[in-house]
Formats: sequence, C-alpha cells, structure tokens
Amino acid sequence: MSEAVLSVRNLRTYFMYKDAEVHAVDGVDLDVRAGEIVCLVGESGCGKSMTSLSIMRLVPQPAGRIVSGKILLDGVDLLRLSEDEMTDVRGNQISMIFQEPMTALNPVLTVGDQITEVLLRHRRMRKREAWQRAVEMLEFVGVARAAQIVHEYPHQLSGGMRQRVMIAMAMVCEPKLLIADEPTTALDVTIQAQVLDLMRKMRDDFGTALILITHDLGVVAEMADRVVVMYAGQVVESTDADTLFEEPSHPYTRGLLRSIPSLSDDTETLYSIPGTVPDAAAFPEGCRFADRCPLAQPECLATAPVLREVRPGHWVRCHFADKGSVSV
Ligand SMILES: Nc1ncnc2c1ncn2[C@@H]1O[C@H](COP(=O)(O)OP(=O)(O)OP(=O)(O)O)[C@@H](O)[C@H]1O
Ligand SMILES: [Mg+2]
Repeated sequence: MSEAVLSVRNLRTYFMYKDAEVHAVDGVDLDVRAGEIVCLVGESGCGKSMTSLSIMRLVPQPAGRIVSGKILLDGVDLLRLSEDEMTDVRGNQISMIFQEPMTALNPVLTVGDQITEVLLRHRRMRKREAWQRAVEMLEFVGVARAAQIVHEYPHQLSGGMRQRVMIAMAMVCEPKLLIADEPTTALDVTIQAQVLDLMRKMRDDFGTALILITHDLGVVAEMADRVVVMYAGQVVESTDADTLFEEPSHPYTRGLLRSIPSLSDDTETLYSIPGTVPDAAAFPEGCRFADRCPLAQPECLATAPVLREVRPGHWVRCHFADKGSVSV
C-alpha cells in the first residue's frame, strides 16, 4: 500500500474562553494515502469540521487554537510552517470545499476572476493562459457554456453550478489532497450524484486523495475506501469500508448503522442512539460514549479506552472491541 499523503497525529484543537475550554478535537490520528477516499462520519459536534479546518490551519480565531499534534503532508509538518508558507500550501497542495458554496465564493468577482486568482497565486502563468485554464477546468467539472459562465457572478448560477465552480477552483492546481465538508448536503439527489461522480473522477484522473465529511452513510457506502468514525472529538473506529458495514466493532458505529432508514422495513420506527454527545467543555473521564452505550460496564465509566488495532488495519476505541461476540 502506498505511503500516507497526510498523517495527522494526536491533534488537539481547543477553544479557550475565560470560563470554559472546549475540546473540539481531542487527540485525533488520521492517515490518508494517495488516491484514497476517506469518509469522516459522526454525529453533529463530534469535531469533523474542526479536524479539517485544523489541517488547513483555518481554525476560527482568536478563541480557537491547535494546542498539540502533528499534521504531516508528505512528511512536512504543516504546524511548523510560517503563515506565508501555509498560504502557499492552501489551494495548491490541499484544497477544501464547503457545504454552502456562497460562503466561499466572492460575490463581487466573476467565476473566472476567482479561478484565475488561484492560478496566478500558485503558478507562474500569464493572465490569458490562466483564463484559458479556468475555462478548461469548468468544462472538466461539467459546466455547460463554460466560456460564457466564466464571465458571470456566483449569484447568477444555480446551487449545483456553484458547487461545480467551487470544485473547479479547488482542483485547478491539482492538489494532493481535497477536503470536502458536507459538499452535497444542500443539493438535490440528482445533482448530489453528479458531484460525487465528479469527485471520484478527480481521484481517478489526478490521483487526488479525498477526505469526505458526510452524515449520509449511503454516500459512505458508495464512495469510501476507508471510513473514520469520530465521536466527542476523537476517532472511535477506523477501517476499510467493507469491514465497517459488515463487521462494525464500536457500539457507536453499530448505533449509527442501525439509524439508517431501510426501504424494506418501513413499518419499524427509525432507530436513533439514545442520549446526546457530551459537552466538549466537560468530557467525562472514562469512555465518552459510556452513558449512551448498551454494553457499558463499570470499567468503561472509570477508564478511557485507547484506540487499538484489533485486526490489521482495523482500529477501535473500546475496552470490549475484541472480547468475543458482543452484540448491540
Ligand atoms: N467557534 C467555536 N467556539 C467554541 N466551540 C466551537 C466553535 N466551533 C465549534 N465548536 C465546538 O467544537 C466541537 C466540534 O465542532 P465541529 O464543527 O467540528 O463539529 P462537526 O462534527 O463538524 O459537526 P457538524 O456535523 O454539525 O458539522 C463542537 O462541540 C462545537 O460546539
Ligand atoms: Mg461540520
């Protein structure tokens, strides 16, 4: 298997307030190999976005701070780069696309201005050449009438079209890693399928590694090579996609999988994991999932489990992950 493009080690990102310290990301390890699609899943507030913003070094200031860890991109620790050096990494070696493209696109610049700006910053290219490349990129991401659209403003485009423009901007410098944070949630299912196809094409044609954050386990089943499940600021399970769906080991992962609506048993009410994610300003000492876990033992409340490799390539943060056939 190829080397990791990205290796995150023991990443901690906290928000420091006078009266509280919010542990948004609390010791995350993550590896992504070249050309690999890794899906990051977990309930709202588990730290998925903060993990990706930390990788981009775009944690909200001034309260947010990366307090420890390493973020190695091809062996270079991004946390040791100067702000100027980091500016050179963003949009060039790592790009990010967001759920709502309007927040990331500049409303007063044309589509062409925004895509060429990325090229002019990172590539020695003349303006004309950059415009030509912008049109080609828009064509690649399936924007019809690209030569015309390039002169239009974001508000003149449909939601699906804006998302394609965002992807074109993110991919124009052919980054090693693309991070997509809920890129299709705001789109209807047809456009969603097209955008997912497009991201797969990016991987196939450019060898781009992809971190795809999604709530939708259907999207995970369709896209993921590997899945990383987050809970309360930590990774609780990490394995290849087939294993995750066939032999999920963490009770939390099993709960998530049980919450998927099934077309066949429409009479059953939809399962949801009881309780809520603990407050990131006051995590419990033991297992963070213990108060919601149907298998919790006294040991779970007393000591926090570590992330262990229970089978080659399959990591689980649970005291009982490999202790026989427990079922939820
Ligand atoms: N600016 C902030 N100040 C304080 N806490 C924050 C801030 N932004 C996020 N958090 C907290 O950090 C934790 C992780 O948030 P994050 O946005 O990464 O979650 P998420 O997994 O992306 O959730 P979602 O699925 O809803 O997008 C949460 O507890 C959240 O309340
Ligand atoms: Mg988020």
